[in-house]
Amino acid sequence: GSADFDLYRPSEEHDMLRDAIRSLAEAKIAPYATAVDEEARFPQEAHDALVASDLHAVHVPEEYGGTGADALATVIVIEEVARVCVSSSLIPAVNKLGSLPVVLSGSEDLKKKYLGPLAKGDAMFSYCLSEPEAGSDAAGMKTRAVRDGDHWVLNGVKRWITNAGVSEYYTVMAVTDPAKRSKGISAFVVEKSDEGVSFGAPEKKLGIKGSPTREVYFDNVRIPADRMIGEEGTGFLTAMQTLDHTRITIAAQALGVAQGAFDYAKNYVQERKQFGKAIADFQGIQFMLADMSMKISAARALTYQAAAASERGDADLTYLGAAAKCFASDVAMEVTTDAVQLLGGYGYTRDYPVERMMRDAKITQIYEGTNQVQRIVMARNLP
Ligand code: CAA
Repeated sequence: GSADFDLYRPSEEHDMLRDAIRSLAEAKIAPYATAVDEEARFPQEAHDALVASDLHAVHVPEEYGGTGADALATVIVIEEVARVCVSSSLIPAVNKLGSLPVVLSGSEDLKKKYLGPLAKGDAMFSYCLSEPEAGSDAAGMKTRAVRDGDHWVLNGVKRWITNAGVSEYYTVMAVTDPAKRSKGISAFVVEKSDEGVSFGAPEKKLGIKGSPTREVYFDNVRIPADRMIGEEGTGFLTAMQTLDHTRITIAAQALGVAQGAFDYAKNYVQERKQFGKAIADFQGIQFMLADMSMKISAARALTYQAAAASERGDADLTYLGAAAKCFASDVAMEVTTDAVQLLGGYGYTRDYPVERMMRDAKITQIYEGTNQVQRIVMARNLP
């Protein structure tokens, strides 16, 4: 209804936040985006700039030292960073993904211990769900946690872990009762410094090259029992509930990179002259721009609607989070591909940012659940 519409319309505060994060992104993140991609290195400048402005993990509640920004504000931060550098946008996005299990289901002690350093910018958080043989079928994981007195002992391998090695803290889903499949999985906080934790070589990827993706190995990692997040056997539920909220941050990345590519291409076609006039004066180009803009507007409306559902904890969040992620990421791929087309041969070179944006956009159709998985989720939760 119309009441819902009001709630997901950005407020004046959201608009002010957007202005602030856009200036910061253009001044302190955009200048490094090309180098971060070319050198496949962590965007330390972006990290430091985000931390200096308290924008690296805005979702952390105030009582744990955070800014307690709402879901829409978090989306706006990620969107604006992704508009100039998708790799850098994984800092606020994965900080939310990794820590949300603690926010949603962790004990008071866990929240105090782990959210404070995150909010301060002293530690980052990663999320360890996928494994070499368990991607879309997340409940088919093999990583095992076995109780030993006051401790749990973890063994296994997690794959595709964003910001692995850079993060201090890891939310790890592991099997505590193999007979119960999804009801026999529990979630834990593991620290990088825990004995037996190590990392694989960085994956060589098509895009988001600035964000390290590595395997994480657990070799007899002994952690105190109070590092369990929530009750034993609730880890899969926590993992899924987390993704309901954080798939919206992937939609935000997709929206941001689409907007960045559109803005660049729109400006380019006004400058570029062929046949004696700006190519923007040809209707074929105008129709492409109109379609790109239309798709971005629709993706933004759905993403903000999902963010409002996330903030309110609405019953249709599972559906809307999957829909926003699926739709916005498809739009990102279409719009960035069209942006390359609008720049022609120049667009295909590394002298212009749109080929990077097209490569970066692709991952948004894959991670936090492929778009095929999103359709399964939507179909099981149709409104
Ligand atoms: N909210 C609440 N409960 C949920 C839920 C949700 N969103 N999703 C599932 N559940 C519950 C189900 O109701 C069910 O409970 P009951 O048995 O009591 O009915 C239980 O959890 C098991 O669910 P399913 O039977 O639906 O489980 P499934 O094995 O069929 O899997 C799936 C469902 C949707 C395919 C799920 O496995 C999935 O989401 N897969 C994709 C995993 C994914 O997104 N991975 C991304 C990793 S993060 C990432 O990319 C890393 C990064 O660094 C960016």
